[in-house]
Amino acid sequence: MRIHDKSNPSTYLPADDRYDAMKYNRCGRSGILLPAVSLGLWHNFGFVDVLENGRKILRKAFDLGITHIDLANNYGPPFGSAEENFGTMMRLDFLPYRDEMFIATKAGFDMWPGPYGNLGSRKYLIASLDQSLRRMKLDYVDLFYHHRPDPDTPLEETMMALDQVVRQGKALYVGISNYPPSQAAQAAEILRQLGTPCLIHQARYSMFDRWVEDGLLDTLQANGIGCIAFSPLAQGLLTDKYIHGIPKDSRAGKPMTYLQETQVMEKIPKIKVLNDLAQQRGQQLSQMALAWVLRDTRITSVLIGASSVGQLEENVAALANAQFSAEELEAIAGVLRGRE
Ligand SMILES: NC(=O)c1ccc[n+]([C@@H]2O[C@H](COP(=O)([O-])OP(=O)(O)OC[C@H]3O[C@@H](n4cnc5c(N)ncnc54)[C@H](OP(=O)(O)O)[C@@H]3O)[C@@H](O)[C@H]2O)c1
Repeated sequence: MRIHDKSNPSTYLPADDRYDAMKYNRCGRSGILLPAVSLGLWHNFGFVDVLENGRKILRKAFDLGITHIDLANNYGPPFGSAEENFGTMMRLDFLPYRDEMFIATKAGFDMWPGPYGNLGSRKYLIASLDQSLRRMKLDYVDLFYHHRPDPDTPLEETMMALDQVVRQGKALYVGISNYPPSQAAQAAEILRQLGTPCLIHQARYSMFDRWVEDGLLDTLQANGIGCIAFSPLAQGLLTDKYIHGIPKDSRAGKPMTYLQETQVMEKIPKIKVLNDLAQQRGQQLSQMALAWVLRDTRITSVLIGASSVGQLEENVAALANAQFSAEELEAIAGVLRGRE
């Protein structure tokens, strides 16, 4: 472990009050508490990004009580580079605090060429986690996910691979992501039989994408599995940034983006009305959008992204005003249904 030199001004000393304001929610029927707001490194942490910016964001996250950091083998770009940069930041700043952190990674999407670098075989999952640990320079991750269902590999094989990494000590808990309700229930049952319960399901959920309400959240609750909601801001749509067009430095303004201009333009009328509703509540649209996802007690945590420290601070401040009146919820539902 690196010696923690408190006399060196570049040494990171986390805020003493880091656990005072954050809310922690129990993850399903488990011993794990996760922060109501977690941080994902899908964007802004690759080799294409500025490492010092990511480092500032990560330091601030930890200072605000965000103990849970989410990665995947393919985050970057290029693939693997978010894990590698995270490994650098761990070494520079966080090694003394490893036991205060809950670090996740995943495998399931395209990662390396050939038949063994994608989907859900035991071969792929075990090799991928070994690679992730090397990139992050960690002995173990707290949580390893299968990133998406594989239509061809038997579910038993995939779940046995998850069970195996726990038995090997390379992961403490396992989870699934993007699984529809029936497959999530099957996966949970197989994992239960193997003696490695499914801790959590990571699913896309925001005001603009409510598929989890159609059965998934009920299934997870019945199985004692937590739910972490990814892209709760719909990749930034549920903020005030696109109201007057697409800024060049925004996710939608960048080349090779997963947020297309047409998606943005189509949503702008609703974004404007939601922004007015947020202002009436005395908060930013981003804050209302996060509080809205967390209004359902089956959601353990909202998994946000941030390209700046300011965004992160704004988003965590959502927790200060997280209650909704029935009228407010009905007004939001009306906008989402299309009745503006
Ligand atoms: N399991 C899966 O399949 C899966 C898929 C996707 C994501 N994830 C996980 O979920 C995490 C979050 O996903 P996401 O990044 O799409 O989440 P998000 O929170 O919906 O979007 C984050 C983006 O919105 C913008 N933003 C955030 N806060 C803002 C604010 N206060 N004001 C204005 N703009 C703001 C920033 O983009 P700008 O660049 O425009 O500033 C930021 O990068 C990922 O990092 C990853 O860990 C998982």
